[in-house]
Amino acid sequence: MTDKEHLTGLNIEQIRRDFPVLKRTVGNDKPLVYLDNAATSQTPVQVIAEITRFYRDHNANIHRGVHTLSVESTDLYEGARNTIAEFLGAPSASECIFTRNTTESINLVASAWGKSNLQEGDEIVISEIEHHSNIVPWQIIRDELNVSLRFIPMLADGSLDVDAAAEIIGPRTKLVAITAMANSLGNITPLADIIEMAKKHDALVLVDGAQSAPHMQTDVAALGADFFACSAHKMLGPTGIGLLWAKAEVLDTMQPFMTGGDMISTVTMSQSTWAEIPAKFEAGTPNIEGAIAFGAACNYLDNIGMTSIRNHEKELTGLALDKLNSIEEITIFGPSDVEKRGGVISFALQGIHPHDIGQFLDSEGIAIRAGHHCAQPVMSALNVPATARASFYLYNTEAEIDHLTDTLNQVVKYFG
Ligand code: ALA
Repeated sequence: MTDKEHLTGLNIEQIRRDFPVLKRTVGNDKPLVYLDNAATSQTPVQVIAEITRFYRDHNANIHRGVHTLSVESTDLYEGARNTIAEFLGAPSASECIFTRNTTESINLVASAWGKSNLQEGDEIVISEIEHHSNIVPWQIIRDELNVSLRFIPMLADGSLDVDAAAEIIGPRTKLVAITAMANSLGNITPLADIIEMAKKHDALVLVDGAQSAPHMQTDVAALGADFFACSAHKMLGPTGIGLLWAKAEVLDTMQPFMTGGDMISTVTMSQSTWAEIPAKFEAGTPNIEGAIAFGAACNYLDNIGMTSIRNHEKELTGLALDKLNSIEEITIFGPSDVEKRGGVISFALQGIHPHDIGQFLDSEGIAIRAGHHCAQPVMSALNVPATARASFYLYNTEAEIDHLTDTLNQVVKYFG
């Protein structure tokens, strides 16, 4: 039975033809099995073509020139903003700010919103399962502004302690910053519950969508949050380009994050005034071709359909959980219910260091990530130094899960 017949919804064979890198070999001349999608996804020819086309046919700076190439480049850049806004369900493209990545988006909010809106005694709430990018910027702001930082704890299966969240989020909470899907263990967080708790106390909510936007339908307008951050390179786009969506009325309360060209309205030698959003938050020449390619990646995902992608990954994850659990020495972290997790499986093999697992798998062509996954508090809570992590995307197949399972059995024999 082929994957196409077995897994519903997607024509995997056809999709794989769009990703040239999936045809190459690695390790000891083994066909590549790419299972490190939570770190970076692969890029389809449709997205690569947009990058090439920009430099071949248009390349000029945006918002500045009256000449043809500049006007074309501006149209492509702003067109991409419209496409991404639509993909994320943003009510207005002007609420979508291009950044370098999710990390920069969160730093922008912590710094620009924090400095304009927080005062001593206020509280920021995050959780124990956040990526370092949604921890460290808040620690810096806590120390700079003398506010408090509180944490929703993690339960043994990696999920959030929602009862504790209801105690922690209170009248002093000014902002809750929370992931939609944890990168370390793949668990999907109860966003609706957390947002309801925050809104009861008029707190704002920032959603780290780096892991959810590539794999599930996003509708920022329906979500009820105030900020949403994501990165193109995890959703078939290039590196170095990301997005921050925020409600216009919130962006209007914020001072700029970076200053310089393109974000001003007027400049004299004594003072300056700011441009309207989104330009107010996009100082300097941006990653123009990156933004255009990000738009192309959203179009690609949209054509396939986010519901089909999510269903495919749920099915793959269910198969992987079943097959991997047949290995006696394995511990799989995170919830067992595929409805509560994305296509990420973090695991340990008794007595074998995750880096050894990663190296052995690489020699058989399989790319996974081994380490703390920029989530050291999660590792501490699990009492492990690191985990091995396999993460799936729309082009992964059941045959690849079988190869992973067989090779992990070899790892156990080799190191055991
Ligand atoms: N945040 C990325 C990961 O989880 C790099 O691997």
